[in-house]
Amino acid sequence: MKKIIHDKTFVPFLTGKDIQQAVTRIAEQINMDYKGRSPLCIAILNGSFMFASDLFKQLSIDAEISFIKLASYKGTSSTGNVVTAIGLEAVLHNRDVILIEDIVDTGKTLSAFLPQLQDHQPASIKICSLLHKKEATVHPIKIDYLGFEIPNLFVVGYGLDYDGLGRNLDQIMQVEH
Ligand code: IMP
Repeated sequence: MKKIIHDKTFVPFLTGKDIQQAVTRIAEQINMDYKGRSPLCIAILNGSFMFASDLFKQLSIDAEISFIKLASYKGTSSTGNVVTAIGLEAVLHNRDVILIEDIVDTGKTLSAFLPQLQDHQPASIKICSLLHKKEATVHPIKIDYLGFEIPNLFVVGYGLDYDGLGRNLDQIMQVEH
């Protein structure tokens, strides 16, 4: 069924079942890859809250989770975009970190944040994202755990919003074109 949010019409794209199957597949990979280890998952708010919660419930390893917000602002022309992490209090030194994102679009946010994360000298950093818009790539990001490769169209639902709305959908909908 179609849904109108603000001024746009959205059509079904991924069902709740599709999403849960992807979550289970990713959780199984992480459980295997991190067997005997104790990674720290860092979920990037707001969009990833639902994905992070469902994924975390399916981790059987000794995993920890922490939530951060990334606030970006324009730096000088030499520094480009600057990203500040709010809530990054966990000690990351020597930890195996798994970053949890809802969607990687241009890759701008993560490419600005990853060097800052590296400064904390974690043992490893892996990136887990539910969605990836490959065609929108400006800054290539290596995604280690991916739910779905999607076309370059705006999506809402399952945590993702359009101007604040749509996060509560249990499916992912795509803007009608
Ligand atoms: P990037 O820095 O361009 O990779 O953008 C990443 C962020 O943009 C995501 O974490 C989302 O918050 C937001 N975003 C990108 N595409 C969409 C979309 O289709 N729907 C909702 N949010 C999006």
